[in-house]
Amino acid sequence: PILIVLLCFGAYLAGSVLFAIPVCRAWRLPDPRAQGSGNPGATNVFRAGGWQPALTTLALDALKGWLPVWLANQADMSIMVQAIVALSAVTGHMIPIFFRFKGGKGVATALGAGLALAPLTTLLMAAVWLVVIWRSRISALASIIAIGSGPIISAILEPDTLPLFGLLTLLIVVRHRNNLIRLAQGRETGL
Ligand code: G3P
Repeated sequence: PILIVLLCFGAYLAGSVLFAIPVCRAWRLPDPRAQGSGNPGATNVFRAGGWQPALTTLALDALKGWLPVWLANQADMSIMVQAIVALSAVTGHMIPIFFRFKGGKGVATALGAGLALAPLTTLLMAAVWLVVIWRSRISALASIIAIGSGPIISAILEPDTLPLFGLLTLLIVVRHRNNLIRLAQGRETGL
């Protein structure tokens, strides 16, 4: 149990590192919290600096979700424990201890954690994201539809992980509430 607590805490701390911020600094871009949507995530880094810093942010934010779940898996922890580790990392990104608890929306971190725990489901969700972004150019819409498809896809392909995807969907949709309002009003800005 002590190992589980340590891993969850470590996952929360790793999640709390909002990579959009150091990446923007490294690329000499404005702080993502002060421009565009104000969200410290890959989408908003893309708005400021294009593909390279955006993909770097995406990869690093995904890695901090993937690594702790992979470690839990290597330690033969149960699916439920791995899911709690995954949620700890996503919670870190959303409510980060290093940034006055003001974080991001958790999509990239959930992608990484999902790839470690339920790769089939997560790859299909990523495919859903790509189709929606291709048709709409609106990242928030792609994220909401992709995460919304998670519980359905996991129920069919990897049912052990359904509780995780149910909670992730809830958390991530709530974090997109302002995007949802803008979408309903037809005011959401795309990429
Ligand atoms: O993953 C974040 C994305 O879904 C929305 O980002 O910057 O458009 O609010 P943003």
